[in-house]
Amino acid sequence: MSADRKFFVGGNWKMNGSKEAINGILQFLNDSKVPANTDVVCAPPMVYLPYVKERLQSGMQVSAQNCYKVASGAFTAETSPAMLKDLGVDWVILGHSERRHVFGETDELIGQKVKHALDEGMKVIACIGEQLQERENGLTEEVVFKQMKAIANNVNDWSKVVIAYEPVWAIGTGKTASPEQAQEVHARLRAWMSENINPAVGQSTRIIYGGSVNAKNCQNLGSQADVDGFLVGGASLKPDFITIINARC
Ligand code: PGA
Repeated sequence: MSADRKFFVGGNWKMNGSKEAINGILQFLNDSKVPANTDVVCAPPMVYLPYVKERLQSGMQVSAQNCYKVASGAFTAETSPAMLKDLGVDWVILGHSERRHVFGETDELIGQKVKHALDEGMKVIACIGEQLQERENGLTEEVVFKQMKAIANNVNDWSKVVIAYEPVWAIGTGKTASPEQAQEVHARLRAWMSENINPAVGQSTRIIYGGSVNAKNCQNLGSQADVDGFLVGGASLKPDFITIINARC
């Protein structure tokens, strides 16, 4: 965390929810106060985006969990950034590990999506992260730098991008990266951005951590120098999310 970078907490609801369950989530979200100097962005399933957007307090924003790389056409079941913008949705998560590893999205496709979403005026939460075997083989840096490069090659305006470092082995497993493990990778990513883009981008871009963040571990993780917030999955469906958005307070 740094005073120069606004704290950012995203809630990735994944493929969870029903109107009834969402009403419960909206209740605790709308009863809470967003702390100063903090962005809170909730990402419900695509089909519920308008429902949530219409009911969510104005202090919080909504995000899609994915989008496609062109504006319209014969791409059955896909959603374009233009459509999201039309609904007033400004954020999109791209490159989530489940998109990469369950749906086979490549660095190349993710780069194209990042480019198109930014060109259409959206803001992007771009996700990267190594798998367990890659970490165990000492390949963490190589993997995240490669993913980062594929994203960076497609970014012109870094003020519209948040990088989410989410080690795949920590997502939905209850195995969180230790604060030191997260800090180490975040610091290396920031250094990579300073060297390969420019120092101002390295200094100003928010790098958030994701992977089994909960109400108990969020304070220690959030106190690390280069951890600027979180992308929260499971805990974003529970009142714990309110503790997490207040992790820095
Ligand atoms: P988790 O998911 O918090 O349930 O581990 C994080 C994510 O996938 O963004």
